[in-house]
Amino acid sequence: MITHDERSHTLTLHTRHTTYQMKVDEYRVLLHCYYGPRVGEGDLSYLIQYADRGFSPNPNEAGNRRDYSLDTLPQEYSTCGVGDFRVLSAEVELPDGSRLLDLRYAGHEVRPGKYVLPGLPAFHGEGGETLSVRLRDAASGVEVELLYGIFEDFDLITRAARITNCGETAVGLCRAMSLCLDVGRADLDLMTFDGGHTRERNLSRAPLRPGVQGVGSARGMSSHQHNPFVILCEQGAGEDHGLCYGAALLYSGDFLAEAERSQFEDARLVMGIHPQNFRWPLAPGESFTTPEAALVCSPDGFARLTHCLHRAVRERLIRDPYRGRRRPVLVNNWEATYFDFNEEKLAALAEVSAGLGAELFVMDDGWFGQRNDDLRGLGDWTVNREKLPGGLEALVPRIQKLGMQFGIWVEPEMVNEDSQLYRQHPDWALAVPGRPPVHGRSQLVLDFGRQEVREHIYAALRKVLDSAEISYVKWDMNRALTDLWSAALPPQRQGEVCHRYMLGIYELLDRLRADYPALLIEGCAGGGGRFDLGMLYYTPQIWCSDNTDAIDRLRIQYGTSFCYPSGCMGSHVSVSPNEQNGRITPLETRGVVAMSGAFGYEMDLGKCSEEEKALIREQIAVFKRHWRLIQEGDYYRLTDPFQEGGCTAWQYVSPDRREALVSLVTGSTRAAQPFRTLRLKGLDPALRYRVNGGEALYGGDQLLYGGYPIPPFWGDYQSMQLYLEAAG
Ligand code: DGJ
Repeated sequence: MITHDERSHTLTLHTRHTTYQMKVDEYRVLLHCYYGPRVGEGDLSYLIQYADRGFSPNPNEAGNRRDYSLDTLPQEYSTCGVGDFRVLSAEVELPDGSRLLDLRYAGHEVRPGKYVLPGLPAFHGEGGETLSVRLRDAASGVEVELLYGIFEDFDLITRAARITNCGETAVGLCRAMSLCLDVGRADLDLMTFDGGHTRERNLSRAPLRPGVQGVGSARGMSSHQHNPFVILCEQGAGEDHGLCYGAALLYSGDFLAEAERSQFEDARLVMGIHPQNFRWPLAPGESFTTPEAALVCSPDGFARLTHCLHRAVRERLIRDPYRGRRRPVLVNNWEATYFDFNEEKLAALAEVSAGLGAELFVMDDGWFGQRNDDLRGLGDWTVNREKLPGGLEALVPRIQKLGMQFGIWVEPEMVNEDSQLYRQHPDWALAVPGRPPVHGRSQLVLDFGRQEVREHIYAALRKVLDSAEISYVKWDMNRALTDLWSAALPPQRQGEVCHRYMLGIYELLDRLRADYPALLIEGCAGGGGRFDLGMLYYTPQIWCSDNTDAIDRLRIQYGTSFCYPSGCMGSHVSVSPNEQNGRITPLETRGVVAMSGAFGYEMDLGKCSEEEKALIREQIAVFKRHWRLIQEGDYYRLTDPFQEGGCTAWQYVSPDRREALVSLVTGSTRAAQPFRTLRLKGLDPALRYRVNGGEALYGGDQLLYGGYPIPPFWGDYQSMQLYLEAAG
């Protein structure tokens, strides 16, 4: 619900459990009053305090009123060069060379339905409302339209900003944040999800210190190193208590999330496209629309924050036909064969896989051009007839005869210098004339901002997709962007390259979706280098990490879980010793970890013993039985995998709380293990639950407050699963 109180000139957004309020003050400055647990109607601007602060300047029209400064007041969208020295929301280079932006309220509108952002990913859904607030810099004519969408049942507020040059001369947009959130206190922690290739989204948490701190990416992808999702929370906040704010950007390219603790002990969070490689000229009448940002607020800890985000992602981001639909159990040949395969090897792997209950066979990298290693072939999307003499026309029916669907790997954004495509169109790769381009995995990046490049690649992909019945595509991306220069743009527009690249990817993914509506697309960027809400709008699952070690995955999946639902995380059982770190883990444990995601196997199943095959058959059956809980249930982190030596446990609970699945993995073993119990979460205290089909019934209250005993385990990295079902 969006309300406007004409007397106090407040604009208030209510979701089911939260309230967000802003106010137009006497100078038409848009102040931020409140974001937190839901409160009744009323002007919350009494929370804003005014004081004369040295070196915090005063707007001209405030005259000698020294207690009024943009530097001290909470702003809804912070300005540039007119007295607020905290972190900026927008920066525009004006025709006279100045960079002042004095944004004042110029009107607002409440519209039925949620705003749309053409060409950009966004939460969607019927009904809802949009609040549009227009701010204007009178001297230059630059306008900023702040857009707000509300998803009441999910306690989710979305935001975007549209910046328009309503003046008469061109201006240059240098910075355009999607979100600015001023919080009237600074005793907060910033939580970010960081790492690198094969160790994505490890949680970091630190108190806000004076000044600006943040994370971002200028790699042309949201990156393995930092994720465009952050949490600001009370310092004592935990899973079940404490106020916390979650902010996510629906964008897969360069991003910046900055939090500032100001001199007066308040905090500001901004989030949007990273300004480093960005400059967008706006001719008179032209607009730039930022990506969407999503905000959630939980008054009682991270679990609730996660539930809001997960539900919203499942219901309002992932699109049909994959919304609420079980993902097929897949077998991928990458770690089983790498580049060394042919039709017979694939068919043999598929045959074993089908016998074990797998449903989708995925042929990974190496099937096209001269792709016998990772030095060549990218860009040449025609079947390598030495490996697959009969082409897909021969291979795919063989797989289908086994009762399996067929899927294929592609990396459309890239080109190797050793490829037909590069020889024909060297200028299609990002490179600055006169400078040899930087290599990443021996490949270059195609300039996806260019229409003709996209057309060529799309036509080639279509040929492949039309040549056989292909149900799934893994869309990979294996290097960061460098040499940012497009042959298609004049010098003064080279700051558009990265964003145009991203818009090009989104356009192609949308075309793919429109032309092949049933196609399941799995996103991937060397594992989880582009694991973000932007990508999830187009690809309902994303390969979580190239690290398939179950124990490292506990941390990766734990961090990922704060924002992203399990059903979105591609997660496979691979061989032991693991090929990324040499760790030996039991097959049971690898299954428990991998099935907490979009489940599959990535190993030579033909080499498994009969005993192992029986276990795999059982794991697939367990996943098929409990997929709804895993994919659609409420997720609870029961323990923290960063606590050395401990157990990692997590739990799914059905919306009616009658069913739950608990998974637990131990760390390295020790003698004389302590007696431990695991307190469960989310159960109905009034119900009685049967555990793993046993005779005994346990009260929900008993399991919540007393817990369930963890037996002593023999050996490292053991696991346990408990399926709870309410009796009666
Ligand atoms: C990186 C991906 O993350 C892997 O799963 C695999 O597809 C390779 N690329 C193939 O080159």
